[in-house]
Amino acid sequence: MDFDEQYWTDRYDTGNDRWDIGHVSTPIKEYIDQLTNKDVKILIPGAGNSHEAEYIYNQGFTNIYVCDLSATPLDNLKNRVPHFPQDHLIHGDFFKIEDQFDLVIEQTFFCALDPSFRKQYVDQMSTIIKSTGNLAGLLFGKVFEREGPPFGGLLEDYKVLFSEKFDIKEMSLCTNSIDSRVGNELFINMKSQKPLAY
Ligand SMILES: C[S@@+](CC[C@H](N)C(=O)[O-])C[C@H]1O[C@@H](n2cnc3c(N)ncnc32)[C@H](O)[C@@H]1O
Repeated sequence: MDFDEQYWTDRYDTGNDRWDIGHVSTPIKEYIDQLTNKDVKILIPGAGNSHEAEYIYNQGFTNIYVCDLSATPLDNLKNRVPHFPQDHLIHGDFFKIEDQFDLVIEQTFFCALDPSFRKQYVDQMSTIIKSTGNLAGLLFGKVFEREGPPFGGLLEDYKVLFSEKFDIKEMSLCTNSIDSRVGNELFINMKSQKPLAY
């Protein structure tokens, strides 16, 4: 199946969006709460209804972008948070982004992609994250019985995949998951391995 814009928009339009927890995910909230520099340039790809972006924006972070293939959830964010900068809503394909960010937040986007895109995901993350930047967030740490999305995976395989381009600071069972995801998700925090530009 082609998980294209139409596929995702149909899922939003038919209310078939069980991934949407309706609020910022606790592990991401707690990660954001300990950041002190509110000027960091943040991207949330595959942001969907963007509860994380809404939280981060409302905490006073000034430079946050969201990207989604589907316009529907971006419109929902616009309606909920009218002051969110419109030019920070990227309606398009994550793999085509050419900008650079200090921090990319992962929240049920990696698992939405067909696993054949995983290497491309890591390559694109490495391209768009600055040499001093981080990729942080959540990955499902289990294999699902049903065909995805969501597509799950295992910590050992993720370590091999991401260590090609990132220094993995943390990749471990998440200790502050929301109830419905306890035991199923890993918290990740990785640093770009790109050399610093002189
Ligand atoms: C499972 S949903 C997760 C949404 C959101 N992160 C959340 O937790 O509620 C995956 C999202 O990724 C978006 N998406 C899928 N492929 C994409 C791509 N190549 N570029 C940008 N967004 C994409 C979909 O439209 C959908 O909104």
